[in-house]
Amino acid sequence: DAGHYDNGGYEHYLLKEISEQPDTVARTLRGRIDDRFHIAHLGGLNMDARETRSFRRVKIIGCGSAYYSGQIGAQLIEELARIPADAEPASEFRYRSPVVEPDTLYVAISQSGETYDTLAAVQELKRKGGRVLGIVNTVGSAIARETDGGIYLHAGPEVSVASTKAFTSTAVAFALLALHLGRVRDLSPADGRRICDGLRRLPEQIKEILTLEDQIRELAKKYADAPGMMFVGRVRGYPVAREGAQKLKEISYVHAEAYPASELKHGPLALISPELPTVAVVPDDELLDKNLTTLGEIRARDGRILMVGHRTSEAADDCIVVPRNEVELDPILLTIPLQLFAYHAAVALGRDVDRPRNLAKSVTVE
Ligand code: AGP
Repeated sequence: DAGHYDNGGYEHYLLKEISEQPDTVARTLRGRIDDRFHIAHLGGLNMDARETRSFRRVKIIGCGSAYYSGQIGAQLIEELARIPADAEPASEFRYRSPVVEPDTLYVAISQSGETYDTLAAVQELKRKGGRVLGIVNTVGSAIARETDGGIYLHAGPEVSVASTKAFTSTAVAFALLALHLGRVRDLSPADGRRICDGLRRLPEQIKEILTLEDQIRELAKKYADAPGMMFVGRVRGYPVAREGAQKLKEISYVHAEAYPASELKHGPLALISPELPTVAVVPDDELLDKNLTTLGEIRARDGRILMVGHRTSEAADDCIVVPRNEVELDPILLTIPLQLFAYHAAVALGRDVDRPRNLAKSVTVE
């Protein structure tokens, strides 16, 4: 209940929680980076190196924003540890009688630790002998208790219904897990060091992004009138686009859907018009040229484009430029301007930012 926590002088808990992220990310990282061996210390996993090496797949489950952060996590694990990994909504997973394999590592994500669908999925996995880790914010919560081990976020209580700091810290926890899994396998010490250094830069870079708030407020006002918005991203940008759309729809009630940028021409391109602006997540990675081509295709259909990335581009009407980190870690930073964008769109539209209609902070029922 919001009443128990100080809003720190902010107008809304949501803005407080967005603004806290330099500290909450630092807390998720604290004591977990080993600069000597370029590894992550994750004592809560309760797994020795031999067991850590034994997994052939990673399956990640969670609901809503937790699921989207799990998609970022799956990509990090595939990239850094080269273990096949994917994320699925826990709510779907539990109902489809999943095949539970002994050499799969299951990871359940939950800010509250009380989401019923996620808990039920964990219990089903346990019944079938699955090895389940939790990435959880609330210490001692049901999911934390039911899992075999895990990573606490240490992000502090999240009051606003829309998740922000827990989302970011979950992605950071996955970077640590991917580093850990990678370094007991084939990730080189040099790449380990690169990721450790990148993780250490995150809090300062988040501070830099927060200084863009005035610009983002103006952009939110400019786009908030649109009846709907499209969010697109490719590979690393796609889960960011999904979370950006989720934030916007949850708190501003503006219709927002995310698509992989590469899927546009297979259907959603038909929707493009001046009335449906696009937020494009365009990191400076090996897919930059492909993404800029997509922007050209949207432009050619008179679509307006707000690009979020590491540079400005004439292919977009507006650009939010964030600092670069290592390509694998960039999704963590690219989400933050979209949180501010959704927040200011919701404020501009006069919405009940911290308690959006029809939603509960944690869904503890079926
Ligand atoms: C996030 O903004 C949402 N309110 C929602 O999707 C949330 O992430 C989901 O219900 C999962 O909650 P949990 O992390 O507490 O399990």
